[in-house]
Amino acid sequence: MHRFAYKGRELYCEDVPVRKIAAEVGTPFYLYSIGTFLDHYTKLKEAFQEIDPLICFSMKANSNLTVLKALVNQGSGLDIVSGGELFRAKKVGVDPSKVVFASVGKTEAEIEEAIRARILMFNVESVQELETINAIACRMRMPQKIAIRLNPDVAPDTHHYITTGTKANKFGLDLETAYKLFMESYRYPFLRFSGVHIHIGSQITKSKPFILAVRKALQFIDSVRFAGNPVEYLNIGGGLGIIYSKEKPQTARQFAEAILPVLRSSATRRGLKLILEPGRFISGNSGILVTKVIYVKKGKEKAFVIADAAMNDLIRPSFYGAYHEIVPVTRSGRTRSVLADLVGPICESGDFLAKERQIPEVVSGDLLAVMSCGAYGYVMSSNYNSRPRIPEVVVRGSRYFQARRRETREDLVRNETIVREVV
Ligand SMILES: Cc1ncc(COP(=O)(O)O)c(C=O)c1O
Repeated sequence: MHRFAYKGRELYCEDVPVRKIAAEVGTPFYLYSIGTFLDHYTKLKEAFQEIDPLICFSMKANSNLTVLKALVNQGSGLDIVSGGELFRAKKVGVDPSKVVFASVGKTEAEIEEAIRARILMFNVESVQELETINAIACRMRMPQKIAIRLNPDVAPDTHHYITTGTKANKFGLDLETAYKLFMESYRYPFLRFSGVHIHIGSQITKSKPFILAVRKALQFIDSVRFAGNPVEYLNIGGGLGIIYSKEKPQTARQFAEAILPVLRSSATRRGLKLILEPGRFISGNSGILVTKVIYVKKGKEKAFVIADAAMNDLIRPSFYGAYHEIVPVTRSGRTRSVLADLVGPICESGDFLAKERQIPEVVSGDLLAVMSCGAYGYVMSSNYNSRPRIPEVVVRGSRYFQARRRETREDLVRNETIVREVV
């Protein structure tokens, strides 16, 4: 569920007409419903309440500071993947003991900064990384908790670019290597082997692959505990799917009802603390992209609706072939519909927001909403074709604010110099 809905002919975000914001801010822009972010966080928290999990919002999905602050104020932790994300996390004052750090390529500088910030733990993805964290923690004289990221070799039914838990992927460690590391934890005196981490992919709509992966992780925990290693945390990652089109994903409650029985035998009885790292589930349906039609070009087979938003603003359709519903911001009452591609102005055939859609007839100046853009939207945007990045607007009830302004032309060249020596 989300808080974008029509009242009469107008699309609203919570209690604000989208058209009103467009008139003030200009197009294109991202629009976030803070109420929806918080609803989704709360739904997950409540679904798992009997084991009081730590929910670390995966900020790679949406790292807008206002969004993060709203979630952190609600009690959320953060899942980070870079020094830049750590910087943002600190800016919003997250409790560092609720921060987990994943990524296959943490640099020494990032590791040092995270240890100094006293984050809860690193999710470690290779032997070399483990050695590096130990060496840095030793140099700093600051013991550090870590979790080993297992690669459970479970293939969820999702786009191959967002499958992460199979042997073909770069993520995590195979179970044999991971077991050996736990057995040899004495070699890393500055590390506390506190957790086991899995993350099998994204936009997973069924519970079954999660159950398989969690079972494998629990068996693994049993075996290392049996050998005398106290494991306190099981981090089951993110990956919960949402509705973009006709998907019927598990709800938070259904997910909890599937996972809790598997955990119950282990988690509550033996005191395992559960960590979840949802990104898309919390943010995906909490945001939209608002764009204006510039031209309509009627071809022989289909029309091209040329909008002012493009692949640099939202890369998901071009990158993953992702589907986003396209709806008018104001229902025009025109009854004819056309078969059309919704495209941007960028010089690439891959620049599209929707392909071969039957959409209500539009004319220049009409506003369109690209739905479900709150996850992996703005964060993946770029300046390709020297297009300034677009604003992010937040709504809470009947009030709206620009949480990030539109970039200016000067912003585009801010970090550049014309090197006189070579021209
Ligand atoms: C380790 C890890 N945790 C959590 C997530 C968030 O995934 P999602 O947005 O599908 O919930 C990702 C996404 O790539 C990830 O790599």
